[in-house]
Amino acid sequence: MTPEEYRQAAHQAVDWIAEFRTSLPDRPVLSSLKPGELRARLPAAAPLQKESFEAVMADLEQILQPGFSHFQHPRFFGYFPSNACLASLLGDMFSSGLGQLGLNWQASPALTELEEVVTDWMRQLLGLSEAWSGVIQDTASSSTLVALLCAREQASGFSLCRGGLQGEKQPFTVYASAQSHSSVEKAALLAGFGRSHLRLIATDEKHAMRADLLGEAIRADLAAGCRPCAVVATTGTTATTALDPVAEVAALCREYGLWLHVDAALAGSAMLLPECRWMWEGIEGADSLVMNPHKWLGAVFDCSLFYLRNPQHLVRVMSTNPSYLQTAADSQVRNYRDWGIPLGRRFRALKLWFLLRLEGVERLQARLRRDIAHAQWLAGQVDARPDWQRLAPVPLQTVCLRHQPPGLEGEALDAHTLRWVGRINASGNAYLTPAILQGRWMVRVSIGAEPTERCHVEELWTWICAEAEKR
Ligand SMILES: Cc1ncc(COP(=O)(O)O)c(C=O)c1O
Repeated sequence: MTPEEYRQAAHQAVDWIAEFRTSLPDRPVLSSLKPGELRARLPAAAPLQKESFEAVMADLEQILQPGFSHFQHPRFFGYFPSNACLASLLGDMFSSGLGQLGLNWQASPALTELEEVVTDWMRQLLGLSEAWSGVIQDTASSSTLVALLCAREQASGFSLCRGGLQGEKQPFTVYASAQSHSSVEKAALLAGFGRSHLRLIATDEKHAMRADLLGEAIRADLAAGCRPCAVVATTGTTATTALDPVAEVAALCREYGLWLHVDAALAGSAMLLPECRWMWEGIEGADSLVMNPHKWLGAVFDCSLFYLRNPQHLVRVMSTNPSYLQTAADSQVRNYRDWGIPLGRRFRALKLWFLLRLEGVERLQARLRRDIAHAQWLAGQVDARPDWQRLAPVPLQTVCLRHQPPGLEGEALDAHTLRWVGRINASGNAYLTPAILQGRWMVRVSIGAEPTERCHVEELWTWICAEAEKR
């Protein structure tokens, strides 16, 4: 494709995307395709001869489009928001269009230095002290894995330079709340700790980690000859947005010399609001943290911010220095390849740069406040109805609820919950994620898609009541 051909096709593509976004409210939120249905309509092998842009677009519209589910829909209330704000999308277009590849500083000084700037802008917006340095990773899952690798190497005095964990005499242990995200368990397993050395600490009535039980678990492991290594605390758990007590956990980590990583994948966005920062009080006692601008804030996926207090340690863990990557500038610059696992680096900073500049901090803050107010409104409605239960506090944008009419319990209650939420999801009018909390199904209403306004939340509540009360 020549630049001129690109120009013509891209104009059409931009128009198509703008139209698509405008028409989202009229589309079903969730695709109703059956597994394999879409694949069966596509050729099994790539074309040998070039095809026209029009032919590709026709297939995108007719074959792919029925397979789209819409996180950008105003009635998307599932999982957590994953806003792809159009301002950020422009940055993503430039990221791909410029074709920059950050193998080292010299490979694209702009890529590296803009990343330094936007991670520092975000540090300030999150209310973090100057002690933190940031890097953009793809996802919170990768960031937490990198954090646990750092923790492992700190606790073991760089076992990777010797026999690795296999050469260690005592097993290392890792701690997280029983409500922590599955990525924490995955990171602990991939970092080599082993499932039997991951302690999932029980939670309190607000679904937050119990610091007293964490302390007991650390002491029990020490007495049993293990080496407590790291704690992952969560600010804003996935099921209920519970807030682990970061300050208390940090005090324990200090006392016993453990690495503290804070997973604020969703809730980190709320830290742009000074009134929300109590939620991670004690954060300055952590060693690393992750927050995902690709969730609620609006940076196009993938864009996960990983901050840590001692980047020299991270670089020592991650650094490889083959001759073909060395440059004369190395001693004066940041080489982000040493700040994570991949060598190649996309120009992700552009997504945040465009978002922050084209929206401005105040508009982003106003949207976050709007969503928190919507969640408070919904929580009030649930609390006012005797047949409904709200199952968790609502510090952020997620409301956990269950319709529980008198006499309905156990498996019959679960079946009822899954039936009414299933009907709503199958209708295509809205999407909600059911989840198990303390052994029983409940429904999460996760508010915060960019176009979601109060009218959509009110409409949803009317449907929910109508569907659940049908029986
Ligand atoms: C608390 C928490 N941590 C981590 C993750 C994983 O995020 P990512 O998809 O960026 O790996 C999620 C995803 O929703 C989450 O809710």
